[in-house]
This record gives sequence, structure tokens and C-alpha cells, in this order.
Amino acid sequence: MYICICNAVCDKSIQNAITEGNRCSDSVYKACGVEPQCGCCRDEIEDMIESHEQGLAGATLMAAE
Ligand code: FES
Repeated sequence: MYICICNAVCDKSIQNAITEGNRCSDSVYKACGVEPQCGCCRDEIEDMIESHEQGLAGATLMAAE
């Protein structure tokens, strides 16, 4: 599914960029080799980053238990 229509970047590419350690939308764009255009996808990318970080926090808590 395309998240960034302007640059034809799909969710898997964005998720890979986040998994590789990119923690802001600008660095995700850069990792995907694109520049933001309209910016409509920025909030969704930020949400994906936040979800990823919450997942990591949850995994850390489970590992500590
Ligand atoms: S949808 Fe990503 S920059 Fe326009």
C-alpha cells in the first residue's frame, strides 16, 4: 500500500527505513531516496515511527519480566 503517493513509496519501504533506525519523517524520506513533496504522508510516517517505538518499548518490558 502506498503511503507516499507523490513519491510512490509503499508502507514496506517506510517500515524498513524505520527498522533500520530512522526516527523522524525527514530521515525516512532520505532513507527511501525521496524528498517530501506535498507532505500529506508526513503524519502517517510519524505515526508509524511512534507505533514502532511503542512496540519496542513493549518488547523491552516483556523481556524484563
Ligand atoms: S504523499 Fe508523500 S509527499 Fe505527498
